[in-house]
Amino acid sequence: MVHALLLLSSLAIIAHLAVASTSGSFVFNGFRGADLSVDGVSSIDPGGLLLLTNDTKLAMGHAFFPAPFDFVNSSTGSPLSFSTTFVFAIVPSVADVKSHGLAFVVSPSKNFKGAHPSQYLGLFNLTSNGDPTNRILAVELDTVQNIEYDDIDDNHVGIDVNSLRSVNSAPASYAVAGSPRGREFKNLSLTSGQPMRLWVDYDGREMRLDVTLSPADVPKPPTPLLSSKLNLSSFLGAGGMYVGFSAANGGVTATNYVLGWSFSLNGRAKELDAVSKLPSLPHVERADRRLRMWRVMLPVGFSVSLLLSIIVVGLALLIRSTVKYSEVREDWELEYGPHRISYKDLYRATRGFRDENMLGEGGFGSVYRGVLPGSNLEIAVKRVSNESKQGMKEFVAEIVSIGRVRHRNLVQLLGYSRRRGELLLVYDYMPNGSLDRYLFNRPEVLLGWSQRFRAIKGIAAGLLYLHEEWEQVVLHRDIKASNVLLDGDFNARLGDFGLARLYDHGSNVQATHVVGTLGYIAPELSRRGKATVNSDVYGFGAFVLEVACGRRPYEIKPSGEEMDLVEWVLEFSKRGEIVEARDRRLRDDYVAEEVELALRLGLLCSHPVATSRPSMRQVVQYLNGDVPVPGLSEEDVQVFGSMNPNKISALCRSVACDPVDGAQSSGDELPLPETTRLSGGR
Ligand SMILES: *[C@@H]1O[C@H](CO)[C@@H](O)[C@H](O)[C@H]1NC(C)=O
Ligand SMILES: *[C@@H]1O[C@H](CO)[C@@H](O)[C@H](O)[C@H]1NC(C)=O
Ligand SMILES: *[C@@H]1O[C@H](CO)[C@@H](O)[C@H](O)[C@H]1NC(C)=O
Ligand SMILES: *[C@@H]1O[C@H](CO)[C@@H](O)[C@H](O)[C@H]1NC(C)=O
Ligand SMILES: *[C@@H]1O[C@H](CO)[C@@H](O)[C@H](O)[C@H]1NC(C)=O
Repeated sequence: MVHALLLLSSLAIIAHLAVASTSGSFVFNGFRGADLSVDGVSSIDPGGLLLLTNDTKLAMGHAFFPAPFDFVNSSTGSPLSFSTTFVFAIVPSVADVKSHGLAFVVSPSKNFKGAHPSQYLGLFNLTSNGDPTNRILAVELDTVQNIEYDDIDDNHVGIDVNSLRSVNSAPASYAVAGSPRGREFKNLSLTSGQPMRLWVDYDGREMRLDVTLSPADVPKPPTPLLSSKLNLSSFLGAGGMYVGFSAANGGVTATNYVLGWSFSLNGRAKELDAVSKLPSLPHVERADRRLRMWRVMLPVGFSVSLLLSIIVVGLALLIRSTVKYSEVREDWELEYGPHRISYKDLYRATRGFRDENMLGEGGFGSVYRGVLPGSNLEIAVKRVSNESKQGMKEFVAEIVSIGRVRHRNLVQLLGYSRRRGELLLVYDYMPNGSLDRYLFNRPEVLLGWSQRFRAIKGIAAGLLYLHEEWEQVVLHRDIKASNVLLDGDFNARLGDFGLARLYDHGSNVQATHVVGTLGYIAPELSRRGKATVNSDVYGFGAFVLEVACGRRPYEIKPSGEEMDLVEWVLEFSKRGEIVEARDRRLRDDYVAEEVELALRLGLLCSHPVATSRPSMRQVVQYLNGDVPVPGLSEEDVQVFGSMNPNKISALCRSVACDPVDGAQSSGDELPLPETTRLSGGR
């Protein structure tokens, strides 16, 4: 009632606005003065447009009708029908570069604090995605193809029930009126920046959800785009539900607008006004607007001396900050603009790259933790020094392409920035650090067997994705426990993938260069220096062995004796007691069959002959128990003996290097420090 009164009083001033009532329906022809619960980067602009997102990267926004609705017939307990229609527009910051999209949402709560932006659309996170207790129904207008969720393309409409894996989806299109049986569909581009209309109608009696899309100036098409049987009984059951919108940006941004919205419970939503009567979208290009502002500002500035001095001071500050935040931007980078995150933002996020924010020093540079201003998203920023300009173009192209790789077992690259002699890579923040922390150097918390096995399976899935399932083959080239990171839910994710190419592009790299870490480098790689999927499998094998045995692949004992993990496991294998090679610190916490599987697989992947190693697809089959791991033959065992790949001496002969630098003697418990990284020319 208060609502209605409030809104009625504003109605006198604003003719556009219709009344939101508590009777089970509301209509907003524009949102000026509308009482919506908005959060994140969502806002209502003075013209009455609802902006779900703006230009803020990696941000999400929600807008919900403030009061919940009871979607259930109180006498029968069955779901009620509902219907909604809204006009929206997705305007990418840069034409043709797509952000993630928006969704109409029915949810038991308006609070989405735990959700993530980007592919999670501000609705879910890695853990909550797919959880039936979410009770979230969404109709997504999705503009990025996520293979992980079986997205059909990067321009589709989908029905999501508790999960980003749609129960039904179709490329954005609409049935042409008057076409034979209304079956001829015309394609639409969701990111065209043009206003479009969407209808979502649920028939509670037939338990059918229809979704219909059209350009904003076309009447409701005769045939829905999607029509799904959905029993929402248990779903809508307990308590009231909220209706609203969610939208999210990734490293690339789009402004997601809603121009008008109508909803009705147990009846047909009232049609909205013609689009010409709804708030209009801003036409002016951003750059134009800025230019125009300057044209007005400048004469004024010159005419008033006071202003002049302000400008001088301002300019001085500007120059100071320009120097402080200066970036390197070249013409060829223009097309990658959306993938860039400004140095200023990164500087602020990491509080000026303070030491307290340093997470550690990885293979390619120091890593800092930060919180991105605007979106409050936690990030990790890797500073990679790179003096050479050569090859930078190709490398940045590759970085941008790698930024599109998405998999739950890979650390997501969010964007990049460049300074003189420095490249900054921005990643999802992994709160639980790297896996080796839980294995080596007297860990505070020792990783249990089930988590180790889960990590092995996860990394196998991630690597299979890089090798075979993504659009191009991505080699990792430096797989090891310290490159495996654990997210908030202790999911293992492979970091730094694709980065090894940085060395290829550097100018100061000599002919013989091997990227990788001693003990993880395949023999053929140290001989010929050519990385292949097989050499990645070798690295994976070393990783599996170190995780299962709790020892580094290569160690020097205090006695000076070289200790090679492959040989060591092989010894146990020959004696028919391979399980005994496991990490003894696990005590009783292990599953013998899984340990055996892992160790046999680790050996198989460590085969000195590249072509005798399994592919990652086979590895995943072995790990799933679909196929038994083949044993090593007598012949194989002999080959292992004669071609020990990890002997430092052997490596030094083939690669001009000084690998034992800093490799002071270490006991079983205190293995080699990270400085044994082997990279020619550095
Ligand atoms: C986006 O919207 C938020 C919230 O209204 C605001 O704080 C932020 O400055 C806006 N960012 C941009 C880039 O417009
Ligand atoms: C609830 O169900 C009863 C029995 O089918 C029906 O008579 C009544 O109209 C329904 N109420 C609503 C609000 O749909
Ligand atoms: C994921 O979302 C759930 C439910 O919204 C929340 O409880 C949980 O803390 C979130 N997890 C992470 C890692 O953000
Ligand atoms: C419409 O889009 C679909 C899916 O993207 C595509 O397969 C089809 O060829 C397109 N049709 C036309 C007429 O462009
Ligand atoms: C819908 O689901 C509920 C319980 O989840 C069940 O009792 C009911 O029979 C189902 N209705 C139909 C039509 O399948």
